[in-house]
Amino acid sequence: MPRIHALPDLLISQIAAGEVVERPASVLKELIENSLDAGATRIDVQLEEGGVKLIRVADDGGGIDMDDLPLAFARHATSKIASLADLERVASYGFRGEALASIASVAKVSITSRTAAADHAWKLEAGGREAKPAALSAGTVVMVADLYFNTPARRKFLKSVATEFAHCDDVLTRMAQARPDVAFTLAHNDQVRRRLAGADFAHRTRELMGDAFIAHARPVEAVAGPIKLTGFAALPAYAKSTRAEQVFFVNGRFVRDKLLAHAARAAYADVLHGAHHPAWVLFLELDPATVDVNVHPAKTEVRFRDGQGVHQFVFHALQRALAEPLAAAKIEPRAVQPAPTFSPQQATLSIREPEAAAYLDFAQQAFTDAVQPAPTFDAAEHPLGYALAQLHGIYILAQNARGLVLVDMHAAHERILYEKLKTSTDARPATQTLLVPVLMTASAGERACAEDHAATLAQLGFTIALVGPEQLAVRSVPALLAGGDIPALVRALLDELAEQPASRVLEQRRNEILATMACHGAVRANRQLTLPEMNALLREMEATERADQCNHGRPTWIQFWLADLDRLFMRGK
Ligand SMILES: Nc1ncnc2c1ncn2[C@@H]1O[C@H](COP(=O)(O)OP(=O)(O)O)[C@@H](O)[C@H]1O
Ligand SMILES: [Mg+2]
Repeated sequence: MPRIHALPDLLISQIAAGEVVERPASVLKELIENSLDAGATRIDVQLEEGGVKLIRVADDGGGIDMDDLPLAFARHATSKIASLADLERVASYGFRGEALASIASVAKVSITSRTAAADHAWKLEAGGREAKPAALSAGTVVMVADLYFNTPARRKFLKSVATEFAHCDDVLTRMAQARPDVAFTLAHNDQVRRRLAGADFAHRTRELMGDAFIAHARPVEAVAGPIKLTGFAALPAYAKSTRAEQVFFVNGRFVRDKLLAHAARAAYADVLHGAHHPAWVLFLELDPATVDVNVHPAKTEVRFRDGQGVHQFVFHALQRALAEPLAAAKIEPRAVQPAPTFSPQQATLSIREPEAAAYLDFAQQAFTDAVQPAPTFDAAEHPLGYALAQLHGIYILAQNARGLVLVDMHAAHERILYEKLKTSTDARPATQTLLVPVLMTASAGERACAEDHAATLAQLGFTIALVGPEQLAVRSVPALLAGGDIPALVRALLDELAEQPASRVLEQRRNEILATMACHGAVRANRQLTLPEMNALLREMEATERADQCNHGRPTWIQFWLADLDRLFMRGK
């Protein structure tokens, strides 16, 4: 066994670099963070060969004093914290004082910097003896050349130039998302790839996430004492096949945190099913003393002192933002997108009569408006406007102040029923006893299931008896669904229940079961609706939480703006 000996400084730094300097993008992240910590309002990034050959970051921040330049390269030397108390409430990106030292151990690094008080700038190369005078009007320029020149094993893990550049671009866009007030440029091999002017949050988000995201985004703004959540969450119709557009920041720091992601996803559980991933850009702000960012050198993980509380807060804040009824939400222009197809089946409608009657007046008014020239009704109080007609037994056409509204009547009605079922089973479902029981044939499995799950079925509002060797008699159903295709509904329900042991099935799968019920209870295509029925549906949509999308995350309605229609006809050109 060799004797124990202390490792040389360079080797210590190279070992530490393994954690921080994974690839060019991680260098870029550290340099941009330093610029932001220095109070920069503009940051210009130049890369060569994906950042492997050169990473140059120039900022207009406070600069480094000439005497401090050598310390910037020293391990564990920082201007950002001085005590354990500071560490516990750290608000800067950096605080470990080892990024520049680590980077300098695996690349050729120089810093040129000028403080406001200095007559000129000073430049120091890592490993160099002393700083030399240099030309720079203000701020700091850090150059990192030939990454891993002295650690060839590392170099082998680098991917193609395009991939390394893409990671750098990712890093820059995340920082730019966190700090819309700062201007950024990004050039690669002398080509400008991004140019972001200082802007407000919404403008920067549109630039980075695109028009479609903004068109589908609901603003999020929730505060509970010292904890705050802001940003945008896209409605489920915008859902993606990957999680790439799920972006979370904690106190301005981009994080990948399971707890936050879980809380946010849970808020969508009710409106988004299947393999789709929602999209969001969210900022959580809380007392720095209640969150530990010092979990890992790269600082993309965090630990909350009250994880449970943070989870609850994020979940509820997001759920509220997504659920806000149309009537209350300010409606942003929505992108016109093709409606997804579904295969309709025949069934019956069960919108309750009294509500339909109550809106008869509105409907007649709308009808009159529709056939008379120059209608001037106040559609502001009804965001979805007034029904004009039904299209191919599938869509409702309605007119509002903005133009034409197209409603997928099955999807919309399904959503309304689902929300109502949830509310009614929270209390006690209103049950309707059928005057004549509905007899239906049933397999042995279905009969066994009806028997096993009799208690659950009763809780949901169904009374089902076994009659004869191959039959079931349905004696009562939830009042909301009384008009539907009862045998189909019961069959789907039994199918749903059969997958589960009888006990606890309702607690665990209540919402899925209610969704199945809503789907079967909802009005199907080719069912002729009267104008009052259509208007009743529109009014119910406006009053229903989460009415913008059906239970499968598809949109229930689409707005065609008059301007969009004008464009189609090239009016005013
Ligand atoms: N762009 C910059 N502008 C001003 N000061 C800088 C800049 N980059 C680095 N520094 C100084 O160098 C020090 C060391 O940087 P770094 O190794 O990244 O450690 P940390 O950011 O954790 O303090 C910082 O504390 C800061 O004082
Ligand atoms: Mg730093």
